[in-house]
Amino acid sequence: MSYFVDEVIVPETLDGPGADDFRAFVTVRNTVEAGVVGNDVLTMQAHELLPAFRSNPQRARRLFTVSVDGAPVGRAMVTTRPLAAGAGADLVVDVLPAYRGRGIGAALLDHVEGIGRAAGAPALQSFVAHSVVAGGDRIASPTGYGDLPAGDPGVRFLRAHGFVLEQVARISVLELAGLEARLAELRAAAQAAAGDEYRLHTWQGPTPAEWLDELAVLRTRMSTDAPMAGMTVVPDPWDAERVVAHDDRHFAGGRTVLTTAVEHAPTGRLTGFSEIEIPSSGATAHQGDTLVLRDHRGHRLGMLLKAAVTQELLERAPQIDAVVTFNAEENRPMLDVNEALGFRPMGFEGAWQKRVEVAGE
Ligand SMILES: CC(C)(COP(=O)(O)OP(=O)(O)OC[C@H]1O[C@@H](n2cnc3c(N)ncnc32)[C@H](O)[C@@H]1OP(=O)(O)O)[C@@H](O)C(=O)NCCC(=O)NCCS
Repeated sequence: MSYFVDEVIVPETLDGPGADDFRAFVTVRNTVEAGVVGNDVLTMQAHELLPAFRSNPQRARRLFTVSVDGAPVGRAMVTTRPLAAGAGADLVVDVLPAYRGRGIGAALLDHVEGIGRAAGAPALQSFVAHSVVAGGDRIASPTGYGDLPAGDPGVRFLRAHGFVLEQVARISVLELAGLEARLAELRAAAQAAAGDEYRLHTWQGPTPAEWLDELAVLRTRMSTDAPMAGMTVVPDPWDAERVVAHDDRHFAGGRTVLTTAVEHAPTGRLTGFSEIEIPSSGATAHQGDTLVLRDHRGHRLGMLLKAAVTQELLERAPQIDAVVTFNAEENRPMLDVNEALGFRPMGFEGAWQKRVEVAGE
């Protein structure tokens, strides 16, 4: 059997040249992911991914498919950070189940690894969902929290190619039906604990001009404050312009973002935020970032933000019946909030890394 690796150039629109190749890439992504997690909650439409998969000043992306007899059976993507020499390259490789075990995954990985190395990335990284299998041989997370089934095809593949498991994240789902009363109670209790100094602001869509600089601070802190275990992390600086560009990309993809931020009234500064992405079709929303700045932790602001943004979701997007979220297994403060809200584990994601020699060092 012969197969070919083709580069997919992300098209301008889904009506013009290259659109079918991009759609094929997305179909392989969604088919493999749904097969691994056992449902389609992580599925995204081609038009939603189009602006996200295009390169931007902070992220350079290259996409590939592998075809057998003209039909795409695998895909790979590599993301590098042109402005951050010390950052890792992010890789993903998917092969349709019927075409596995023939070296296609290895060929794709070799291809994208080469691009990551050529970009000078000191670490090759991969964040990948793994199948849920209870018992059997396990690979423990070095954090001490969480493990993965050793027999999962992705786990076998990454280990065989020199990747090391650094962290396990829990994928959880919150069913929204019948949640109103619980959310109101949790929000009221959190607001009482937080006191009068903190007040909430919610918006749907682009960040209001008055909060652009503040959001840039919070997003910059998100890049360093979320627990990332042994993964190589370098700060990812944001400014108002980048916040606008980021919001524009969501808008272009047809997803709406609902954001609740908390202002520390005495200083007028935003001290935390939580966002939920509402898809253009389908009934599962995605929890985006949630952050409370270190100096303001311990005031129940995490619960206040999440209860409030979920309440807003119920009101503004009645078509949504569930929210999915990813949290590091060692991130107890965030898991405590999510468990109290009613999130239940659905699957697991591994954060994998392979350190590489960087030329000249
Ligand atoms: C992980 C994944 C990409 C592997 O794809 P693949 O095409 O099966 O990869 P390969 O064929 O290169 O390797 C898979 C196995 O086939 C074996 N193999 C490779 N070429 C072979 C050949 N010609 N004949 C027989 N076996 C072969 C490999 O040794 C490997 O064996 P093992 O894992 O059973 O020990 C695929 O299972 C997948 O898409 N999983 C879900 C997503 C995922 O986990 N991605 C990986 C993280 S980025």
